[in-house]
This record gives sequence, structure tokens and C-alpha cells, in this order.
Amino acid sequence: MCGIFAYKGNKTNGAEIVINGLKKLEYRGYDSWGVAYKCDNEVKIYKEVGKIGEFDFNRSKEKLGFDKKCTLAVGHSRWATHGGVTVANAHPHASQDKTIAIVHNGIIENYLELKENLVKKGYEFKSETDTEVIAQLIQEYKDLGLVEGIKKALSMLEGRYAILVISDSDDLLIAARRGSPLIVGAGKDEHFIASDIPAFLEYTRNVMYLDDNQMVIIDNKATFIDLETDREIKKRIVEIDWDTESAEKGEFPHFMIKEISEQKDTISRAINQDPEKIMEIVEEINNAFGTYLIGCGTAGKVCLAGSYLFARIAEKHVNTAFGSEFPSLQQFITDKSLIIAVSQSGETADTLEAIEVAKKKGAKVLSIINVEGSTMDRISDFSIHIKAGPEKAVASTKATTAQMAILTLLAYGCAGKLDEGKFLLLDAASNINDMLNPRYEAHLHKLAEKIKDFESMYVIGKGLNYPMALEAAIKLQEVSYIHAEGFAGGELKHGPIALISEGTPCIVLVGKDETENEIISNAMEIKSRGGYIIGVAPDNHELFDYWIKVPESGNASPIVNIIPIQILAYQLAVLRQNNPDMPRNLAKSVTVK
Ligand code: F6R
Repeated sequence: MCGIFAYKGNKTNGAEIVINGLKKLEYRGYDSWGVAYKCDNEVKIYKEVGKIGEFDFNRSKEKLGFDKKCTLAVGHSRWATHGGVTVANAHPHASQDKTIAIVHNGIIENYLELKENLVKKGYEFKSETDTEVIAQLIQEYKDLGLVEGIKKALSMLEGRYAILVISDSDDLLIAARRGSPLIVGAGKDEHFIASDIPAFLEYTRNVMYLDDNQMVIIDNKATFIDLETDREIKKRIVEIDWDTESAEKGEFPHFMIKEISEQKDTISRAINQDPEKIMEIVEEINNAFGTYLIGCGTAGKVCLAGSYLFARIAEKHVNTAFGSEFPSLQQFITDKSLIIAVSQSGETADTLEAIEVAKKKGAKVLSIINVEGSTMDRISDFSIHIKAGPEKAVASTKATTAQMAILTLLAYGCAGKLDEGKFLLLDAASNINDMLNPRYEAHLHKLAEKIKDFESMYVIGKGLNYPMALEAAIKLQEVSYIHAEGFAGGELKHGPIALISEGTPCIVLVGKDETENEIISNAMEIKSRGGYIIGVAPDNHELFDYWIKVPESGNASPIVNIIPIQILAYQLAVLRQNNPDMPRNLAKSVTVK
């Protein structure tokens, strides 16, 4: 949430490097953006409301001064928290004397109190943000020198932050973090700092991760400081194996459809894990006394699917909670418990908080994540990387199915049938490969045309497919903006069926198992009240008004059934002229609570 990026090195087009890099982080926030760059010993700031992706650098560089020689620059693409979407609230923010510029990702919880004290001292504020308080505090302690002034200011903050600071008097780029991600890219005679790797992937693959309560000071080298002990620390350089293409759209019009298409490969890649490591983790799950799956949003739905998978395949009770709800359930956690955190980014604040709560009680943590080196990866006792490659569309698709595949594999492992699980998933992966073809997409496009103007639609499922009904609804909501809700089929008659009227589109996710007859009966109840039934099922049924064929996939049916819904959601978004990659009000990687 919010993309931040900085450059310091020997290239003289620092402002351009930062603006181009920020465009690659736009998925993290896209309501406004800005850049601060140092030229002629002066810090200059430019900011705008709107998407940075729409900014034409070459047309504006001279007018805005970006063509001036500049070897130090910081930038920010915003997802608003404190204060509306205005130029004044966009980052960077300057100190009152305009000598310091700062960008920030996170939330400062005590900013009102700090602001009040600064106002009493005569500081005037130009924005409604919490960030401006940090810039003014650094000015307040400027006599200590820039580095010590920043440390002093940071010691007064409550909340989460990743900040980047430059000043007109020092040739330094300074960054610090507590709770929000920051990664340092080390090139030849140059450094980059970003909230995510794609910003600098074209320049370097060598990265160093900043941990909580650490600062990095960059002159011509990077010096890391532990803010708790005020001691220098050494960092290991990690080489990233992502290629630049995997972080670009290529021939696809949007990242979302590119990432949906990648599911041809991502599921088999996800399950290609070291069997010994999987069995070690299986043992932890089997030995744990109380296991909780924790995730947010789509990852939370994957967790719920996990509970069903463990119950069905391994006869194992595994609890599920949303990250934000877990602190209210922590009373049951002990040092014998195991937390399985599911996350694409590995940076979701609510999931991280849940992990912190569980760790305090001595529980072990397994993370199932996509982004290697993310905070979750580093604070967990064990991690499984789903290896889906960069997921940039806000709506999760390929990470979702890869996470589902890992949970299915673990459930089979717990049942002592790891190979059976592997075969099932490889079979599903090959079926998905067959499904993802232009004819299938055209069939879904025809359906999207039919239903695109409806105001509401519903999705039902039962058993393994109930969590997928919830996930289908999220997918439809977030990119099409059509009101969509998911229900357990059996719950309809207890209330929601009142919502059905003539022609209401209702998607029915059918698994070919013991739930099949009942979910078909539930669909009949909807049809009798005028609903338009869209069946996602291996077999056609006379009750379906529109049939979306999916291959019979046994316990992998939730993975296979969600794929046509992802395509449908994408097509609805495009038909309704929404940008599926950057849905309104949302951002990828929710690093605020
Ligand atoms: C929806 C979506 C979100 C994320 C949620 C958790 O398509 O992507 O609901 O699933 O914000 O994010 P991660 O998986 O990064 O923890």
C-alpha cells in the first residue's frame, strides 16, 4: 500500500529513474504521486493527483525541471489514509524550511499529539497527512545533524512506517522502517530503495532487506543501523531470480489476464517442492495442538478452503481466522499451537499483527507466501514459497490457486498420501492448461455481455466449493464493481433467497462429490424464484441457463472452478470500462491496519 522508491548513484537522470520505477509500483497505490529531487543543492518537489502511469515524462521533463542533473531523488505513489486525494496531501512532504523532503508508507498513530506540539512551537502545516509531522520533527531536531535528527524524530513515532528522507545540505539518502516493507537494491556505484523489487529490477537483482527498527544511510555505500542498539549491522546480499519480463505485461492488455493465463504453469510450479521439507512441515502440522490458518481477503478465503481440505483429506481440524479477527481469538493459542499464515505479498499488516500476537504466546509460524524475503518470510519458523512470480494486478488470481495447491498438498501429506495429492494437482494443472484457450474465453465473454448491466449477482457453493463462492464474489466485486455476494447453498433459505428476483444472475459452483445433489437443489430453489442460473460444473444440467464446463477434478475442484470466475470478472471489468489492474479504492499489499 503506497509505492515508494528512491535513487542515489552516479546516473544524472535520478528524477526520471524514480518516476519510471514508481510506474512499476503503481499497483500499490494510485490516487496521486510525487517526486522530490536534488539539483543545485536544492530539494525540489513536484506532485500531482492521478495515476503516475498516465504521466508522460518526455513531454513534461523540461517544464518541470526533471531534465536537470540529479543523482538523488525519492518518489511516492499514494493510497490515501490521512487526508483526501489532493496535491497538498500527496507525497513527498517538505519540512517548513523546505530543506528536507520525505515520503512515507504506513500510519503514524500519535501524529495528532505530535502535530499539536509542533503547532505550539510555530510550525505551520500544509497537508492533513500524518507524514508531514515526520518532516517537521526532523527539522525540529536538525541541530543534531540529519542522521541523528531523523533518529530522534523516529523515536517519538508510534505506528508503522517506511520512510525515505533527503535534504538539501547532505548528499545522503536515508531510509528507515518499522512495519512497512523496504528493500535496498545494490547496483554498481548506485543504490535504489523501494517498497517492492520490480521498481529496480531492470538495474539490479542484488538486494538487501531492511528489517523493522533499522535504518540505512546511503552515501556511496549502504550503512545499516539497528535503531534499538544504535549499532552498525552487516547485511547479506541476496540475488533475486525474477526476470524483468515476469514483472511486465508483455503482449497482454492487462496484468490481470496475463496472471490468469500464467496459471497454465503456476500450479505445477507451486507443488514442485522439496518432498523432505514438505514432510517436515507436515510433521509440525500433525504434532501441533491447535492449528490456525490466517489470511486476509482472498488469502482468507484460501484459508477457509484449507479448513475444508484438511477436514476432508486428512480428517484434521484446522481453524481459520481473518488476520484482523485473530487477535480476538488468541486466548486459545499456546506454545504448542501452529499458525499457518497465507499471503501473496508477505506484508499484509493484519496478518503480520496476527503472527506477532501468536509468536508472543510461543506458537510456531509457517508462512505460505509468494514474495520471498518479505517480512512474513523472515519472521516465520518455516516458509513455503508458492513461486507464482510477481503478481501485480490488485485482484489476486495465480497466487490464489498456487496457495490452494500448497494447502491441498499439505492436507494430502498429513493423510500420508503426498504422492496421491501431487498426482491430483498435476492432473488439475494439465486440465487448466486445456481450459485456458481463446474459445473458452469467448464463451465467458458471451456470458459477460449478458450480465454486465445487472446491479447484483450471487454465487453459491457447498463443501469445498463454499469458500470458493466467497472468493468468486470478491473477484467479481473488486474489478466489475457489481454487487456480488457468496453464500453456502444451504444458507439461502435462511435469508438471502429474499434477494432473488426475475433474471438475477446466480453462479452455482458444483463439485462432483457428495455435495452435488444438494447444491443442484439449492440452485433449483433460486431458479423457481426467477434467478438466472450459471452453472460451473463438469456436467450440464437442464436447470442451467448458462453452462460453464469445468473438468472433473475431485478435491482440486475449488482450484479449477475459480478459474472461469476470474476470467468472467476480468471481462466484466473491461466491458464496464473499469481498469481491472487498478480497481478504485484498492491497492495491492495492504500494509496498513
Ligand atoms: C483480492 C486480494 C486481496 C488480498 C488481501 C491479502 O483479490 O488480492 O483480498 O488477498 O489483501 O493480501 P496478501 O495475500 O498479500 O496477504
